[in-house]
Amino acid sequence: MSPLLRLEGIRKSFAGQEVLRGVDLDVAEHEVVVLVGASGSGKSTLLRCINLLEQIDDGRIVLAGDDISDPRVDADRVRSRIGVVFQHYNLFPHLRVIDNVTLAARHVHKMGKTDAAGRGLRLLTRIGLADKAREYPDRLSGGQQQRVAIARALATDPALLLLDEITSALDPELVGEVLDLVRSLKEQGATIVMATHEMAFARDVADRVVFLDGGVIVEQGAPDEFFDHPREERTRRFLARLAH
Ligand SMILES: Nc1ncnc2c1ncn2[C@@H]1O[C@H](COP(=O)(O)OP(=O)(O)O)[C@@H](O)[C@H]1O
Ligand SMILES: [Mg+2]
Repeated sequence: MSPLLRLEGIRKSFAGQEVLRGVDLDVAEHEVVVLVGASGSGKSTLLRCINLLEQIDDGRIVLAGDDISDPRVDADRVRSRIGVVFQHYNLFPHLRVIDNVTLAARHVHKMGKTDAAGRGLRLLTRIGLADKAREYPDRLSGGQQQRVAIARALATDPALLLLDEITSALDPELVGEVLDLVRSLKEQGATIVMATHEMAFARDVADRVVFLDGGVIVEQGAPDEFFDHPREERTRRFLARLAH
């Protein structure tokens, strides 16, 4: 079966410094791939390239058979097929929770206000925050805001979810509710590529762990294999540093 997402030889430089140095990665439908690696290893850049927020210098990105790295593609349409959540919950502060969630559906998919609101409410129900629909984001905890950001990312019914360090800015006691939501999305069949420092979560939920170092994939494997029997010296050093 062909993968939902295929990355072929992805290269990306900033000001002459190569940050991604030939990344190949296939992600199957319903698979949860967790990217790990030290700060600066290229995780965010890779996710931003997949979502066309960065233009790759070389290689190819194929989503469900479509070459989305072709400069002629409509980037907005591609982005509506890919849900993204970043570290800092970037909800619009002047919009109520429900309007944050439905904005993309209304503008990109030209969904009517009533349809979008109905869909938004169903999404909020799914994440357990239907009672916050009329609130403004600053009335929500950080964990609730990140859950709303996830609901917003799901509003266009994307084929793929990209999650970049979505718990890194949260107080420790708020991390669990966000990771629980990711776990339930996986159970519902979502295809997810996420960068995280939450190794216990990676071990528990990932189908595959991918270790990036210096802009290349050094090692990847099933979580138990990866964490208990790393093959590469660089992986061992990375894991040893985490243990301290
Ligand atoms: N827009 C940018 N301009 C210049 N350098 C960047 C930019 N984005 C990322 N970088 C550099 O690319 C490298 C990889 O960064 P990043 O992808 O954010 O890594 P990670 O998410 O793994 O911490 C870093 O050296 C970072 O400074
Ligand atoms: Mg990052």
